[in-house]
Amino acid sequence: MRDLKMLAGSLSLLLLLACEPEATAPDVDDTPYSYDVPAGFPIPVEPAENPLTVAKVALGKRLFYDPILSADETISCNSCHRQEFAFADNVAISPGVAGRLGMRNAPSLANLAYVTVFHKDGGVPKLEIQAGSPIEDVNEMDLSIFVAADRINALPEYREQFLRAFGREADAFTITRALAAFQRTMISGNSAYDQYSHQGMSTALSAAQLRGRDLFFSDELACSTCHSGFNFTNDDFFNNGLELDHSDDLGRRRISLDSLDIGKFRVPSLRNISLTAPYMHAGSLPTLEAVVDHYNRGGVGHPLQDERIRPLGLTDAERADLIAFLESLTDEAFVEDERFMP
Ligand code: HEC
Ligand code: HEC
Repeated sequence: MRDLKMLAGSLSLLLLLACEPEATAPDVDDTPYSYDVPAGFPIPVEPAENPLTVAKVALGKRLFYDPILSADETISCNSCHRQEFAFADNVAISPGVAGRLGMRNAPSLANLAYVTVFHKDGGVPKLEIQAGSPIEDVNEMDLSIFVAADRINALPEYREQFLRAFGREADAFTITRALAAFQRTMISGNSAYDQYSHQGMSTALSAAQLRGRDLFFSDELACSTCHSGFNFTNDDFFNNGLELDHSDDLGRRRISLDSLDIGKFRVPSLRNISLTAPYMHAGSLPTLEAVVDHYNRGGVGHPLQDERIRPLGLTDAERADLIAFLESLTDEAFVEDERFMP
């Protein structure tokens, strides 16, 4: 079943890749979308096939909050990616159409403009096609993207909005590109840690958070070798020693077919981490305390776990400091930003 589903997935991927845009119609509104890049962040690279415009971003936002993209019109992207949780969810597995459950925890959608490969196993090569996956997934929205396009084009004002943004009506190309455009604007870089590091606010971090920061970046803990850079991820795949039985989810192995990749998952960003519990690919760890205990223990001793996952011998005070540091990565302005609200 799973292989058949993967085959169907790659076929629809080919279809989406094949539909290149037609020549732009004259009445297209191509006013560029502009936004500030946080201090310490590089300028995101916009894909040539999908430059950000005000019209596309507005359309992407409308689609993001619209249950029209699901079979029974009950589930929107926002059902599983909620702004108050930095566009993640607060349950281990978020229910899709008819309460059906998939196998993974919904991730935050902050800073996707910087991500180079998508999904926890790296199965999706670019954001511009990602939305085809949740729309068509039987456990998520369970709708053919072609049916979604027909539904939208039957509503004259919605169809008009597509024509203004793209010069063509709703189809697999324009639906996925509009959603990607909106998500590219979701940039989060104004946490207490950023204020301390890049905005000269020397009191933004508490003494405990500063001690936790030193632990996080220390050679002994090595957290920052995987959770590295301005977005706290090296965008690579590792086995961080979560569980011995991977029969439900082989991780990167599903895509690479290399058995050494069993249990490897893409390193997630730690930005807004205090808002996105539960943690890990299937939401198996309920709290940051449980995450720090997991690393302090050195994982479960999986034969393929990375050598940096080993007992750390942290004291209770050090564990609390490390958690305090992780909490300093929360960007309150991001979850209250009206530009991302319906
Ligand atoms: C039923 C819950 C659910 C719905 C509905 C849903 N998602 Fe997701 N989303 C997930 C889960 C779970 C993942 C993780 C998938 C994986 O890694 O295999 C995910 C992953 C993603 C990612 C990849 C993020 C990354 O860092 O790799 C993007 C982008 C995304 N979703 C956008 C959307 C959009 C756009 C919609 C609406 C068209 C949507 N999602 C609808 C649950 C959902
Ligand atoms: C060898 C690379 C590596 C090292 C070292 C590492 N991590 Fe991770 N971390 C990962 C991977 C991979 C995941 C995602 C696993 C999954 O999806 O199941 C992860 C997940 C997490 C999560 C949960 C993120 C989420 O959104 O669910 C937190 C929090 C975290 N790590 C903190 C830390 C801390 C603190 C340290 C240091 C004590 C650390 N990590 C060291 C690779 C690493």
